[in-house]
Amino acid sequence: MSFKRFEIPPRFHDLPMGMRRASLCADLTSENVLKTLLGRHDLDDKAYDFIDRSIDAMIENAIGTHPMPLGVVPNFCVDGTMHAVAMATEEPSVIAGFNRVSRVFNASGGTLTSMPMPMTAAQIAIAISPQNASHLLENLQSRVDDWRTIANDANPALVAAGGGVVQIDFEMIATAESARCHCTTDACFATLAEFDSIEPINEVLVVATLHVSTRDAMGANAVNAMAEALQNAWFEHYGKMDGYAPCMAIVSNRAAERNVHAQVSIPEQVIEQYTKLDFDDFSQRIDRAMRFANASPARAVTHNKGILNGIVAAATPLGQDTRAICASAIDAATRTGIHKPLTQWFGAQHRENGKRYLVGSIDIDIPVGFVGGMRHIPHIDAAFKFDHISSLSALSGVLASVGLAQNFAALWALVTDGIQAGHIKLHDKKKAIEANGESPPH
Ligand code: MEV
Repeated sequence: MSFKRFEIPPRFHDLPMGMRRASLCADLTSENVLKTLLGRHDLDDKAYDFIDRSIDAMIENAIGTHPMPLGVVPNFCVDGTMHAVAMATEEPSVIAGFNRVSRVFNASGGTLTSMPMPMTAAQIAIAISPQNASHLLENLQSRVDDWRTIANDANPALVAAGGGVVQIDFEMIATAESARCHCTTDACFATLAEFDSIEPINEVLVVATLHVSTRDAMGANAVNAMAEALQNAWFEHYGKMDGYAPCMAIVSNRAAERNVHAQVSIPEQVIEQYTKLDFDDFSQRIDRAMRFANASPARAVTHNKGILNGIVAAATPLGQDTRAICASAIDAATRTGIHKPLTQWFGAQHRENGKRYLVGSIDIDIPVGFVGGMRHIPHIDAAFKFDHISSLSALSGVLASVGLAQNFAALWALVTDGIQAGHIKLHDKKKAIEANGESPPH
């Protein structure tokens, strides 16, 4: 099948969004297909105009918003507050599993969560000749107060809101490994065999890490602006030193300063009521699943993917940077050097009341924002209202708790009926639509 090439009108990205859409309809696709692609059906023109202007200010070549399947788990208790959780996902078992587990968690009093004062970090890396490195490092370290002022001056609004630089650390990376292709295909070997590596310059990296309180924001833009202000200031101060070369200034997606803990204690009778299994039997099955995940990195990756199924689905309608969430989760999971599960589950007996529980906990770094980012877009703001999320800690706590619940849903299915059983009902519904011969608009 061959498709028509779209003749991109001159300065397509500068056109008003309506004209961008009209030109696509004139030359590339039908209005029906475009409207369906954008899910534009039921808001009035004024609302769409506002949405269009908001997203046009965010991304280039914007043509609208993308509708995904959106479902809801209507009641989920976190820290004593009942939340609704809107979830955007294409995967059949995600909401079904979480919905089932939300009842188990709610019957256990819900989750309890905690997190430290959230900070966002940025790194500024400078290359320098080895003989000047210590001098540069010591000089940078001796003037931390000046650097704090310069960075804070790059974002007075953040400082006025009570945020700003908390700490600046410096380190020297003496033996930076240069890039090598690690590919093992024959084609790559054959190509690389024709090249000799150019020896890298003999230099070391001095790296500053800026730890910033970004208050209720995720803060990537804020810290990038601060880090670039410092990079420029340092170039002015030190740029003439022998071998000095700025490398880069960028947010770090290591979000250890946003580590969220969530836990739930499911009483023995709740386990038995919902799973229809004996508590000892069920907790032993879960214990086996945990020993497997703790010992096998290949299993831990899948275990953690299940956690992200829930977190990403819940974070998407809230307009969060889901790639940053995944990057930070990988970092948290591999911090010991081995991929480990981000949750733990174990059977336990309460010291005071003597009762037995299945205890679950998650410790995961979740870089998210309650303000900034896409919050000004009506869909996104509506999701915060819908989910009853009224603070950054509630946002972080809900997402971590969704991850814990999603993981429990997966383990419950895996150690009992298997994962396919939950898919069958939805699969049958899909087949019924196909059997009716219904087709999408074109
Ligand atoms: C599927 O998307 C997620 C699971 O594989 C997670 C797990 O195995 O724990 C079911």
